[in-house]
Amino acid sequence: MQHLIDTNDFSDAQIAQLLQDAKIFKSKRPIQLLRDRLFITLFFEASTRTRSSFEVAAKKLGAAVVHLDPSRSSTKKGESLEDTFANLCAMEPDAVIIRHSDNEAPGMLADMEMTPVINAGAGNYAHPTQALLDLFTMVEHFGDVKGKTIAIVGDIISSRVASSGIRLFTRMGMHVILVAPQPFMPKSDLPQYEHLADVIEKVDVIMSLRAQLERHSAPIFDNYNEYSRHYCIDRERLDEKEILLLHPGPVMRNIDISDEMLEDPRCKVLEQVKNGVYMRMAILKLLLLDS
Ligand code: CP
Repeated sequence: MQHLIDTNDFSDAQIAQLLQDAKIFKSKRPIQLLRDRLFITLFFEASTRTRSSFEVAAKKLGAAVVHLDPSRSSTKKGESLEDTFANLCAMEPDAVIIRHSDNEAPGMLADMEMTPVINAGAGNYAHPTQALLDLFTMVEHFGDVKGKTIAIVGDIISSRVASSGIRLFTRMGMHVILVAPQPFMPKSDLPQYEHLADVIEKVDVIMSLRAQLERHSAPIFDNYNEYSRHYCIDRERLDEKEILLLHPGPVMRNIDISDEMLEDPRCKVLEQVKNGVYMRMAILKLLLLDS
């Protein structure tokens, strides 16, 4: 039984297959490869993109999706996560897709070996499907990402997107640079900078991140307008540079990225969302049909 807890669950050959399948799914109407299959989504944290993207991906492949809303489930009566999961597995889904604030939750459920578990975002540790869709977006643009330089900018320490991205992008041969004010900078061996101006001339990609206020135990900055003066990706900063601009969403407009840059063709925010559907279709196919 194969799970997806982080991208290191996939071999290089499987990642190459995912990129190829996502490209094919994007280029033509897919056949209903997963007809009669059933997925359960279990999101203990809010989501717009990931949850709907998984549902759209599953439905495009002919599968059914049942969503359990934890805020209205028996977890509210004290049922444990393990018991909730075991009861859902008794209904014989083909996989459970889970988002949780606990870094360990998806892996713990995978260890129960009851059904394939797909991590749709866990704490600040891993968001593998986001990393894979980001890789797909970069491969689509550059062809080969090996040797390209990506700057990850913003609240890196709180970000599971950054954690999974760093592991996947370095594995793919990219150079990863971290740009953040000191409170947002994780411990890391990667090159670290406080100022965007020091890296802007040497990057091929900027991945901007949202300040994850919900993960800060106390406010880190009193004023995000001041933060935005240094870290907002705007037209003045990017000028005419050929830099691909990514953001996993939700974007804090004019703090992470300016309104104007969100309309710029170099900004791939909505393309990432589109590619997320095709990458998740490829992931569902791999886990259910090819493993
Ligand atoms: N990128 C991402 O995980 O977005 P959501 O939180 O809306 O799913």
